[in-house]
Amino acid sequence: MKFIAKTQEDYQKLYNASVQNPQDFWAEFAETNFIWQRKWDKVLDYNFEKAHFRWFEGAKLNITQNCIDRHLPEKAAQTALIFEPNDPNEEAQHISYATLAENVNKTANLLKNLGVQKGDRVCIYLPMIPELAYSVLACARIGAVHSVVFAGFSAQSLADRINDASCKVLITADGGFRGNKTTPLFDIATQALQQCTSIEHLLMVKRCNNVSENDWHKHQQVLPAIKFSFWEKMFAAASAHCPPVWVDAEDPLFILYTSGSTGKPKGMVHTSGGYMVYTNFTFCNVFQYQAGDVYWCTADIGWITGHSYILYGPLSAGATTLMFEGVPSYPDMGRFWQVIEKHKVNIFYTAPTAIRALEQADISFVEKYDLRSLKTLGTVGEPINVEAWEWYNKYIGKNNCPIVDTWWQTETGGIMISNLAGVTPQIPTFATLPLPGVQACLLDENGKEISHLPAEGKLCIKYPWPSMARTIYGNHQRFVDTYFSAFKGYYFTGDGCRCDVQGNFRITGRVDDIVIVSGHNLGTAEIENAINQHPNIIESAVVGFPHAIKGNAIYAFVSCLHKPENEALLQKEIAASVSELIGPIAKPDKIQVCYALPKTRSGKIMRRILRKIAAGEFDSFGDISTLLNPECVAEIIKGAK
Ligand code: WT7
Repeated sequence: MKFIAKTQEDYQKLYNASVQNPQDFWAEFAETNFIWQRKWDKVLDYNFEKAHFRWFEGAKLNITQNCIDRHLPEKAAQTALIFEPNDPNEEAQHISYATLAENVNKTANLLKNLGVQKGDRVCIYLPMIPELAYSVLACARIGAVHSVVFAGFSAQSLADRINDASCKVLITADGGFRGNKTTPLFDIATQALQQCTSIEHLLMVKRCNNVSENDWHKHQQVLPAIKFSFWEKMFAAASAHCPPVWVDAEDPLFILYTSGSTGKPKGMVHTSGGYMVYTNFTFCNVFQYQAGDVYWCTADIGWITGHSYILYGPLSAGATTLMFEGVPSYPDMGRFWQVIEKHKVNIFYTAPTAIRALEQADISFVEKYDLRSLKTLGTVGEPINVEAWEWYNKYIGKNNCPIVDTWWQTETGGIMISNLAGVTPQIPTFATLPLPGVQACLLDENGKEISHLPAEGKLCIKYPWPSMARTIYGNHQRFVDTYFSAFKGYYFTGDGCRCDVQGNFRITGRVDDIVIVSGHNLGTAEIENAINQHPNIIESAVVGFPHAIKGNAIYAFVSCLHKPENEALLQKEIAASVSELIGPIAKPDKIQVCYALPKTRSGKIMRRILRKIAAGEFDSFGDISTLLNPECVAEIIKGAK
């Protein structure tokens, strides 16, 4: 079978085949497009109730052989990775497949020299520099499990993630450049390590030269049980030959944390075989990558988008993938467009929040640059509003580039619902159709599948797909409860969705306690826990509210022990505490001090009301008969106006 759809009919054929016989479909694709050291015994073994999913069981492979080695005979000299630094005056790096192989092998040997073995967890807390890509791939090379923590997270968040996975090694940098700021990553990391006992070794890459020898020794003294090493020194000493370690298709490849509806983030576990197969399949089909294209996904490798569509998907397809260290607003709002011109980017994949921010800037920032290299545009992370879609289409795509709106999640590993660039029709604000292999459906309140279109309901998936997460690290029951218990026999996404008469999906947003802020998935409970640390806070309720650029922003309703003397100061302290405990991305945009929060008789805060108030809707709260203290609602509305 031809697995890359080039026409709408191809798509339909692939989709039908994938539903009629999913296992044969994926087996044939897997067999004909990848190198396996040993073939699988069984394509799929699954049980929804137990959340048991195993793809290609018994197969042996190494994903880096498929992402790197196999390209060497033909593409050794082709650029695999373009590194564009934060500072436009610093030279970009073009890293060929041959050099990537060498650097990944050296990094893999470096890790081996630190005692890292198959199955060990390695925490990676790095800015968007090439060493991040090398570290991730080096773990995969030796069968170690990488856990990348976004370099914007706080010491506390880093420590929680290291401890949850009992990581053995932490790879960090002295600092990270982002716009005109330098994040003191080494300081944050060493602060985190004071709470961690599993780490045996800290490895530091020099990027900003912001750590003096004195600091280095000082921190080492505070952490006597941990060995500190410089990346550069160990890297230089490592051999460039490291044979891949064969892992089972179902061995874990990585852990990546995502917010949950309790305070504790969930360590989503992804495995090797199915993840490789599906990220490659979706990358090729959705973006319609052609040999020679320069592809740029602006995400950070600290998120799933970076894992799947900066590294594994593009590299397994032998693509040229661009990695950008900086931010869209530095040195000015033209930076993305300048990078597109400079590297002649053909495929550009970004988030609606970035588009909305750039849309606010003067159009001359766009018009200054030659964007004629662009063929395809993409968005991910949240629903895109029609204005942003039209601006992107007109000013960036010049009405001449298909836009793929890709819906997926950390948990799904790869793109689930999207148009295929130039192949299947696009509809502004619709993710459109499920990819082959994805049996998406809408369920009503009673958990019944809605077959009559158009419809609105909860988005679920009713058959396993190869790149789905396999468990939550250390807590399989939570995995079962979160995704497979609400509706028996289905994976529940947590998203609400509409479907038009043709079966096109339009995601409407989360229906649970998760708020997507600037494309980042934040758990309200985690933010509430951080706010509640303040000595004067009794309790808090965090909800999302619509925001012109971020999509959603955080609104915190708090009740205090004593009436605060200085509300502005209290708000500042709360913001600082959230920033410190979680990271600046979780800081509330609004903090409102309330005498009391609306509660049901069973003591649950009625967030539904607060969500309305936060959105500026001050009437029609629906049924509030179960409220214990309805009088506080008028008070809160007054405070919100
Ligand atoms: C949530 C998952 C996977 C990429 C980054 C986010 C929302 C994602 C879209 C889209 C509407 C989208 C959903 C989803 N989302 N893409 N194209 N249209 N909503 O991963 O942090 O795991 O968040 O992002 O609400 O559930 P994540």
